[in-house]
Amino acid sequence: MLEAIDRLLGMLERHFAAEERFFALTSYPHTPAHKIEHRVLCHMARHIRGAVVIPRDVSFVGLSLRHFVQAMVEHIIEIDLGYRDYLHEVE
Ligand SMILES: [Fe+2]
Repeated sequence: MLEAIDRLLGMLERHFAAEERFFALTSYPHTPAHKIEHRVLCHMARHIRGAVVIPRDVSFVGLSLRHFVQAMVEHIIEIDLGYRDYLHEVE
């Protein structure tokens, strides 16, 4: 499970870095707040990793994963879709 979380963390950090490079190439106005969202999501993922490393009640890890997935879906719908109007600037 730890290996899967480490892969997820790596993918998450690479994806967010790619998004943030895109922001730098456009006039997207919400870069600071969006970057903070990315940091919070990475922090959540690292917190889950920590919960797996330190033996805890399995339900704690499951609940943390559920909250993380919900936060990711909300981020995609409420935050990521906000930069689609700026995609044409890098075509
Ligand atoms: Fe994002």
